[in-house]
Amino acid sequence: METSALLILLSAGLCMSAFLSHYKRNLKAQSTPTNWTDAQTYCRENHMDLLTVHTLEEAERVQNIITDESILWIGLRRRQGPTKWSNGDIVHFDNRTEGYGQQLPYCHSMSASGRWENVDCAQNKSFMCYDEGDGHSPLSYTLIKQKSSWCDAQQYCREHHTDLVSINSSTQNTEVLDVQGDRRVSFWIGLMSADWEWSDGGCSSFRNWDSPNQERDCVIIIKGSPGMNQYKCDQTATAICYEDEVHLVKQPKTWEGALDHCDREYGGLLRVESPQDQRIVEAALKRSNVSGPVWLGLRQSCLFGFWIWPNGANVEWSNWAGGSQPDKPLSHNCGAIATSGPGMFKWSDRDCLSKSYFLCEGEERQAV
Ligand SMILES: *[C@@H]1O[C@H](CO)[C@@H](O)[C@H](O)[C@H]1NC(C)=O
Ligand SMILES: *[C@@H]1O[C@H](CO)[C@@H](O)[C@H](O)[C@H]1NC(C)=O
Ligand SMILES: *[C@@H]1O[C@H](CO)[C@@H](O)[C@H](O)[C@H]1NC(C)=O
Ligand SMILES: *[C@@H]1O[C@H](CO)[C@@H](O)[C@H](O)[C@H]1NC(C)=O
Ligand SMILES: *[C@@H]1O[C@H](CO)[C@@H](O)[C@H](O)[C@H]1NC(C)=O
Repeated sequence: METSALLILLSAGLCMSAFLSHYKRNLKAQSTPTNWTDAQTYCRENHMDLLTVHTLEEAERVQNIITDESILWIGLRRRQGPTKWSNGDIVHFDNRTEGYGQQLPYCHSMSASGRWENVDCAQNKSFMCYDEGDGHSPLSYTLIKQKSSWCDAQQYCREHHTDLVSINSSTQNTEVLDVQGDRRVSFWIGLMSADWEWSDGGCSSFRNWDSPNQERDCVIIIKGSPGMNQYKCDQTATAICYEDEVHLVKQPKTWEGALDHCDREYGGLLRVESPQDQRIVEAALKRSNVSGPVWLGLRQSCLFGFWIWPNGANVEWSNWAGGSQPDKPLSHNCGAIATSGPGMFKWSDRDCLSKSYFLCEGEERQAV
């Protein structure tokens, strides 16, 4: 199989934006075809992971770069374990109805009567988040009326609460329904029914099957056919991996030292400007098993007290621990990200002269 043309194209700086994030996403092809499992290992060890496709536009962009007869693995694989709630709980109480003739995946919403409906995950709906009690106080529920897709709803709940709601019993089903009082609307709950899942755990319900129902468990894309094809996992194909331009530098430096290093070696000290940016940074930290603190490009104006990014932009979107930005005169003037609980990361202010690892963004500069 001829992979060299593809490789040349891919290494010539082929890139796309990471999904809804400002970081660049580079696609990298494996040099020799392997089975799917080895392809996954290859991507995780050398880059980030096998590619997740979120939209038709992304799928088309990948099509545009395939120039030969290559067969490419993407990260989609038939689901291995049982269906779980968004928060990882096993489904004990199951009030789903059969989706006759409906294509998986679909997501579940609770209707005004308490029934669980099957809805296209891309639909925009209100949604219910929950907060974990501290062992003494019970769970609490919050209905978010703003309408979003199931994946965006999940992300919102994980940022601002514990997660999308899980329902363990018919008693709890009624409790959740009653949160709204009498003015009932239908809303997302934390359950997606899917028969396939992405290697990087990404929340994407996008599927464009060319050849469904082949009883094969892995997925390839090929030139000239727009969609996804099911393929046997033990056959060989070339991995298409992705790598976002987010770099963790494991050298303890002061904030200024980190700023200099990132300016010299990459595009600059890292900015986190949206929930999508935050999600990518969290994945990079988890992947490296680093809990922080790790410097971000956050600096407080000594004179005025507001926080700015190295490019001079004000900090608009933020993710401060405790929910509010550190204010003068008690604050330290530089900002870092650190773990705030299992799998969660928040920002905090720190003494600029303390030394930490740091995150840079942008393309690595070639040595001259
Ligand atoms: C959901 O809302 C987003 C933005 O608000 C919009 O771009 C998208 O088309 C909507 N989706 C559907 C299925 O209506
Ligand atoms: C659901 O039930 C399981 C086991 O009974 C429990 O561990 C979990 O905390 C419950 N989750 C919620 C959100 O109530
Ligand atoms: C869903 O749960 C409610 C109780 O909360 C029950 O009355 C109803 O019959 C259930 N529906 C299905 C389809 O299981
Ligand atoms: C993939 O190939 C490796 C050898 O490179 C082999 O050990 C492994 O069992 C194969 N996995 C599958 C699922 O075929
Ligand atoms: C991650 O770090 C923790 C604590 O430092 C350690 O116990 C654990 O083994 C590490 N995990 C991996 C995969 O390196």
